[in-house]
Amino acid sequence: MQISSRITSLQESIRKISEAAAKIPDCIRFDIGQPDFATPKHIQEAAIKAIKEKEIGYTPTAGIAELRKAIADYENKKGLGLAAENIMVTNGGTGALFCTFLGLVNPGDEVIIPDPSWSPYELHIRSIGGVPKYAKFFDGKKLLLESIKSAITPKTKIILVNSPENPTGRVASESDLKAIAELAIDKNITIISDEVYDKLVFGNAKHYSIAKFAPENTILVNSVSKTYSMTGWRLGWLAAPENIIKQLVKCNRVTTASPNSISQYAALAALAGSQECVEEMRKVYEKRRDTISKRMKETGWDFIVPEGAFYAFPKVGGDSWKFAMELLQRAGVAAIPGVSFGPSGEGHIRLCFGSVNSEGINKGFDRIETYLKEL
Ligand SMILES: Cc1ncc(COP(=O)(O)O)c(C=O)c1O
Repeated sequence: MQISSRITSLQESIRKISEAAAKIPDCIRFDIGQPDFATPKHIQEAAIKAIKEKEIGYTPTAGIAELRKAIADYENKKGLGLAAENIMVTNGGTGALFCTFLGLVNPGDEVIIPDPSWSPYELHIRSIGGVPKYAKFFDGKKLLLESIKSAITPKTKIILVNSPENPTGRVASESDLKAIAELAIDKNITIISDEVYDKLVFGNAKHYSIAKFAPENTILVNSVSKTYSMTGWRLGWLAAPENIIKQLVKCNRVTTASPNSISQYAALAALAGSQECVEEMRKVYEKRRDTISKRMKETGWDFIVPEGAFYAFPKVGGDSWKFAMELLQRAGVAAIPGVSFGPSGEGHIRLCFGSVNSEGINKGFDRIETYLKEL
């Protein structure tokens, strides 16, 4: 059997870390990018009810009407003017991203992605014959608009924005998003706005959607995965102008027929129900953020204090693969090498505090400090 070169050429190197970490007893797993909470009870119960009431068939390809409306209401709190017809329900944020790339990118089209950024973006784009182009969007907190501008060519189809950002924990300001939106409108480029961490912001940071400044140019991607601790439920969505949704629905049809019916009822309960559970989890992440920031500072690493998501991206220097592999094998601490997120991630590691509590963070850093002293 011969696998297509589109697939054999994709590198999934970061799995090496997780596979090795799983074999180390008592390993501190900063590599896992998901929450460690149980899905809130009322959401679990809505799923069980859906099963019992036989909501188990295919649903409309774009998702059930009540959920599409609830998603529009959720996103409209960002100052958008969406209706149910602007929403397509997908298999997680990943499904929304893949459908968007599949629907928009012709072979050879270029997609500008932040350097560093979530590594599957590059894999999605390559897998359908597109060309990912890394550009540095920020230097610390400073927007590098010229860097984005100079990555634009006549083949540029999309600029992808992700705030709060994986792997840096950075939250883009309203004025920075406005500047990127103006650039995209001026050059007639589509924006994909990945907002899966929209509710996970800390301190004074505030999440804004770039869709507010470029409603006709933006495809907004989101999911219940991180916000409601539902990564395994595989339920996300995209929001776009109605004529675009009519076309992108075909991508759902060819990849999945319809999103999971049970998860859609669960997501409806999540979005329409009390949001207290979200705030409770957010507060826990914020405490973990404080703990990890304190410990990174004591370690002497250079880092920006994460303002959102649940990632820290300290600069540790040197070859990030070598550093991460040695940290894993000699200290029993798993982290993702920064270079896996793009060339400018070299010299960094990504630490996720989504599934490591404060006690685990302290234990991990005690080990890191001992390891660094022994070097
Ligand atoms: C930036 C970013 N976008 C999208 C996703 C995909 O999320 P989902 O579980 O909804 O597919 C992730 C998951 O880690 C992510 O970090």
